[in-house]
Amino acid sequence: MNSEKKFYITTPLYYVNDKPHIGHAYTTILADVINRFFKLFGYKTYFLTGTDEHGQKVQQASAKSNKDPKKYCDELSVVFKNLWEKLNIEYDYFIRTTDDDHVKVVQNSLMKLYENGDIYPADYDGWYCIPCERFWTEKDLIDGKCPDCNREVQKISEKNYFFKMSKYQNWLIDHIKNTPDFVVPEFRKNEVLGFLRQPLNDLCISRPKSRLSWGIPLPFDENYVCYVWFDALLNYITGAGYLFNNEKFNLTWPADYHLIGKDILTTHAVYWPIMLKALDVEPPRHILAHGWWLIDNDKMSKSKGNVVKPLELIDKYGVDAFRYFLMREMSLGHDANFSEESMIDRINSDLANDLGNLLNRINKMVFNYLDGLIKKPASLEEIDKNLLSFSLNLLNKIPNLLEELKLNIIIEESLTVVRSINKYLEQTAPWKLAKEKNQTERINQILYTASVSILKSAVFLYPIMPEKIKILLNSFGISNINSVKDSFTFIDNLEKINLSKIDALFPRIDKKEIFYENKQEKVQEEDDNLISIEDVAKLDLKVAKIIKAEKIKKSDKLLKLQVEVGNKTKQIVAGIGKYYNPDELIGKTIVIVNNLKPAKLMGEISEGMLLAAKEKKGNLSLLTVDKNVKSGSKIS
Ligand code: MSP
Repeated sequence: MNSEKKFYITTPLYYVNDKPHIGHAYTTILADVINRFFKLFGYKTYFLTGTDEHGQKVQQASAKSNKDPKKYCDELSVVFKNLWEKLNIEYDYFIRTTDDDHVKVVQNSLMKLYENGDIYPADYDGWYCIPCERFWTEKDLIDGKCPDCNREVQKISEKNYFFKMSKYQNWLIDHIKNTPDFVVPEFRKNEVLGFLRQPLNDLCISRPKSRLSWGIPLPFDENYVCYVWFDALLNYITGAGYLFNNEKFNLTWPADYHLIGKDILTTHAVYWPIMLKALDVEPPRHILAHGWWLIDNDKMSKSKGNVVKPLELIDKYGVDAFRYFLMREMSLGHDANFSEESMIDRINSDLANDLGNLLNRINKMVFNYLDGLIKKPASLEEIDKNLLSFSLNLLNKIPNLLEELKLNIIIEESLTVVRSINKYLEQTAPWKLAKEKNQTERINQILYTASVSILKSAVFLYPIMPEKIKILLNSFGISNINSVKDSFTFIDNLEKINLSKIDALFPRIDKKEIFYENKQEKVQEEDDNLISIEDVAKLDLKVAKIIKAEKIKKSDKLLKLQVEVGNKTKQIVAGIGKYYNPDELIGKTIVIVNNLKPAKLMGEISEGMLLAAKEKKGNLSLLTVDKNVKSGSKIS
């Protein structure tokens, strides 16, 4: 840990028009937990998060909803703020890239780089991916498509401004090599070094206003706005007071941790340090790239319909259980798997069984045997001392783990103490002693030992579950928690512990009930997708008879059919060529959508659509009618 006792941590700025999901929630909770830990260890901390608001996607989305882009962003950034409030995120500053001071920092930085000759104009020929807002060279493309998102790219030829990244490539390689923990974990560092083995292209940092107006204007050419990543990355210094508050900036910068997902490693570990170097600003201390949350071992995506929404989980299981699960389950740097079932298992085993039960047991026994009051014993037995020194030892273990940000191990260490207390109670069995005479003093010693130990492990669970741990501490008469050191001293110096009665901290979750409820919700959701009878009536389904069928040249999928619909003949182009020979189709009575707008397929007009059943793999079968029915008959 650095000796200045200051700590500055950031999350990425989330795209304002994204719907917050478990990935956003994870990075932000992670930052919050780390920040709270450092605070607990006496650091003066600063935690920055916010929203990324410029660029094509926002421009397009705001236009689609007929809103002024700024107003649109005002509404959407609140969605993130509200979620962070619900998740108990204690950030110090929420930055928006549309904030005035940020716009000034971006323009000022651009001007400085331009004047220094680090930004220069050039004609550019390249391939542009609109969704990614990025240029690619011919050789970057994969099958002629964007290598990142696999979508179509456009050939663009125009004047643009470029940032001389190539000039700083060797500096960056040296910096990464000389600062082994600049990019963590190590395998991500190696990934960056691998990337830097190829010569770096200069970065195109402008977009012509004619194509994109929603951005920060270049101070030296009003026909252009700034590339959204160049703008967004600078937030980390704007938020620290760069340019506007030197005193704050000197106290805050460099950032100790930029937390990012592995998807945005290059922008953070290559572009950003080079931008800072060119601006003559110190690089951040660490860039930490975490892995991805997979959903039932699959990538999360809107199209798969498996996006996990944090609010739903908070409502169901409570904010602290959600925070706990995310922190416990992901080992930093690697991907982790989310499933509601594993979350319930975790809550039940660690929180309901181990921690919650222990708390209840102690609480009940103190009321049953000691009238709610524990006194500091004058002496202790060996077994008590062993447990106390085991819990005290957390103080030696945790700082090292924190330095490596091994939060899942910190949790495990604290829970190991909790489990040892449970075991200790089994061994000392105060409930048995309570049946004997004159054992109150021994019972007091045991419950004192157990209480002090649970309190110490709770201190280290506080950053993860602030609400529940506060309740736990309150039940022992402790109202607030500052630094670890003060808390441990306070706990050790307690002459009396006055307990108040407590309800179950984490009630056990009945899996059956939850999944049954889920099913009900599913039915409800599906109900929302049902269509009305009027929607059905719009479809003109008719019986048709195939009178002619032939292949379409250059296509092995498409067949051109002439079908008789009553006294009319229609042409339908259908993608059934892989499943039927034209000859076998003649004379078949099929079902078609008769009122479909005509369209051209491979140059052939298609005036309807036939219906067919398709199995997931292979087999396709045309829908026919059961009895002999005249063509043109209506299907209702
Ligand atoms: N706006 C840029 C970042 C600019 S920072 C100067 C951006 N935004 S984003 O909305 O796409 O958020 C990206 C971050 O969300 C990831 O880096 C990661 O922190 C988090 N996650 C998004 N999906 C994720 C998972 N499935 N799992 C874990 N976190 C991921 O990129």
